[in-house]
Amino acid sequence: MPIPPQLTESWFLGPIEVPNRVLLAPLAGIGNWFVRLQAKRYGAGMAVSEMVSSHAIHHRNERTLRELLRIDAREREAGPISIQLFGEEPAVMRSAAAHVARVGADAIDINMGCPVPKVAKTGAGAGMLADPDRAVAVARAAREGALDAGVTRAVAVTVKLRSGLRAGERSGFDLAHRLVVEAGVDAIAFHPRSAAVQHRGRPDYDLAAELVRTLPAPVILTGGLSDAASVRAAFDRTGAAAVMLARGALGNPWLFAELLAGREGPPTRAEVLGELDWTIDRAVEHLGAERATRYLRKFYPWYLARLGLAPAERRALQERLQRSDALEGVRGALAHLQEHAAVAA
Ligand SMILES: Cc1cc2nc3c(=O)[nH]c(=O)nc-3n(C[C@H](O)[C@H](O)[C@H](O)COP(=O)(O)O)c2cc1C
Repeated sequence: MPIPPQLTESWFLGPIEVPNRVLLAPLAGIGNWFVRLQAKRYGAGMAVSEMVSSHAIHHRNERTLRELLRIDAREREAGPISIQLFGEEPAVMRSAAAHVARVGADAIDINMGCPVPKVAKTGAGAGMLADPDRAVAVARAAREGALDAGVTRAVAVTVKLRSGLRAGERSGFDLAHRLVVEAGVDAIAFHPRSAAVQHRGRPDYDLAAELVRTLPAPVILTGGLSDAASVRAAFDRTGAAAVMLARGALGNPWLFAELLAGREGPPTRAEVLGELDWTIDRAVEHLGAERATRYLRKFYPWYLARLGLAPAERRALQERLQRSDALEGVRGALAHLQEHAAVAA
């Protein structure tokens, strides 16, 4: 019996080498360059971008190109860049894939799993499961686009899939095989929950294990990977080539260090506050202070949950941060906590 690989071992995703097997999953509205950079600072082997509309790229939507396709030099130094695209139109996908290959993607991931009606009812995301021929054509077009881009380095193409549209269906499993065999996709990121349950319930790891055994390409597992123990158990049980952390990594880059660098124990209050401070600075760098003030509101609860505050104190701080209409107020409240952390230490 071959010895199963460790999470820390490198592997090949088609033509590109990924330094380890713990990746950051695509997270819409969250997975920008600095969230990906944060994951990589803590060891993530690769971090996939939030989903980006192939139509917006094809039509050169200015904000999409400037903000969603922004790749930071520090992020590039820390390992391969994967950009996730969604869209149902092969010609548009070809054009978008060529563009992202030119701006520096090492891998292009196609979203065939998003259950949100706004996306799925256009035929994109999980809507692809209802039209497998179109799904194969879209994946093939992405591959052609990456080849047509005129860049010298090879670009991998991956697809992220659900197990099916409804519970008990295996249409995603079947499509995974067609995508690899007919469209030459380099790997499948598999989320073994149906689109109908969105993110609820237990993922079907046995189905993922069956895909790993039968697919002639690497399988990246996603779903239910909330802490180090669940990641290790699912990695061992499925035999997946790699895992992708999603909700478990929100405001929790320490999970990468735990899995990859033997870090033990939760972060200290000073560490959490330091990381939140870093995040605020990067958001300002990305969006300017005014937009960052609003954008950061979704980030606060993740960090506040790790500060070890009493429930009432946490609620009060949460309210104060959400209500701040300038970052000075946020920084002031956090600095106050920092002083307390220093005294306690
Ligand atoms: C807030 C949020 C945003 C997400 N955005 C995307 C996305 O843009 N593209 C995608 O393929 N999956 C997206 N997902 C799905 C995750 O990548 C992941 O597959 C899913 O959350 C299952 O992993 P988990 O149970 O460990 O959270 C999103 C999930 C969440 C919670």
